[in-house]
Amino acid sequence: FCHGLPDELKVVSCEQKIEKTLQTRYLEVFHDVEKLIDNTIALDERLPDLDQPARTRLRQLVPSVGRFFTKLPLKEAFLIEDRKRLISRRTLVSPSFNDIRSILNTAQVLALAGAQENDAKLRLVTFDGDVTLYEDGKCLEKDSPLVALLVKLLSLDLYVAVVTAAGYPGQLGADMYQERLLGLIQALRDTNQLLLTQKNNFLVMGAESNYLFRFSSAHGNLRFIEGCEWYLPIMQSWNQDQILEIMDLSHDHLKHLRRKLRHEDENKTTIIRKERSLGIIPVNGYKIQREILEEMVLSILVELNDILSHNKSTANAEKKVQVCAFNGGSDVWVDIGDKALGVEALQLYLYKTCGGTHGKIAKSSSLHIGDQFASVGANDFKARLSACTVWIASPRETTEILEELTNL
Ligand code: IMP
Repeated sequence: FCHGLPDELKVVSCEQKIEKTLQTRYLEVFHDVEKLIDNTIALDERLPDLDQPARTRLRQLVPSVGRFFTKLPLKEAFLIEDRKRLISRRTLVSPSFNDIRSILNTAQVLALAGAQENDAKLRLVTFDGDVTLYEDGKCLEKDSPLVALLVKLLSLDLYVAVVTAAGYPGQLGADMYQERLLGLIQALRDTNQLLLTQKNNFLVMGAESNYLFRFSSAHGNLRFIEGCEWYLPIMQSWNQDQILEIMDLSHDHLKHLRRKLRHEDENKTTIIRKERSLGIIPVNGYKIQREILEEMVLSILVELNDILSHNKSTANAEKKVQVCAFNGGSDVWVDIGDKALGVEALQLYLYKTCGGTHGKIAKSSSLHIGDQFASVGANDFKARLSACTVWIASPRETTEILEELTNL
């Protein structure tokens, strides 16, 4: 290939050749994975039972793979990410976890933004709060680039919702969320880029799936919506005594962990118990070590498994209360419900409120963006059951994804 070229050009040409060869090989791999995904989608369609996904070649290779609600154009996404991340220019460092995460994210955005006539169109975009819309524990400020992008999504007639673990009920709760989301709430009050109906398409689902709020352009703030207007049938069937029993047993276990892991000192941590959630949180600027947070969340998950299997034998399956536990980065929480239910409840409620009688917004028309997708002790992970997903690692990455989504 380089024969007869001057030395300087020879190096460039050899490098270019290696880059092209690597790019071609990566493209071949992504082509094969695309086919494996297509095959999984086709076989899953024949088995609509969510608990029993089809046994496909892809699932043999990657047993934890979930359901795909759209095809994923991985080759096209790879070429876009290769231009940004120079993956095939590297000869010593192979594609990393973050390279693959970015390629999957871009493929998901391409699939949703490029939906053809026969495909489901994107209708609902949901966001986690901490780390996704704002830094951990901070607020969505009015100068965040995300504010204009969220307004843009609403102007495209999409429903936009924050689905967060942070749980505060009632109209007082609405004030708490407004404080965290003030930049956007102010924009919704002030902007003339949106119709009043489009402003009303912003919602907040709090405590994973427990409290719903909707922006009211008439009042200029979030309004609390009673559960009877939007609970999923499964949530309506939950027995209050069972919820209380799960809360009590989880509470006992959190107290036990706090003792066992030597975090009893009230100057370091405290346990918060709310109506439908429990958390161990640090106080006085104390930082709980990452390994301790992980130990706590794993131990709670084992305990919940025991509690729920006992619960299963006493209640029939469809009435079984669902619970999640997660590591919030600086604290650990147990919440009744989860983000799969939170997103699904929005799909049903929004479908009904715009006049639909049978059905709900499709999973293939919903996108959830969050940072917690590690399979153990992460609360966005559950949203994979109800929507297409994008896994980001900072508000800056959320900004980039929304720019891609709104520019396509
Ligand atoms: P998210 O990232 O928006 O889902 O918010 C998660 C964070 O919300 C947790 O790490 C907690 O610090 C905070 N939080 C406040 N109240 C609750 C609650 O009731 N359940 C779970 N997390 C809560």
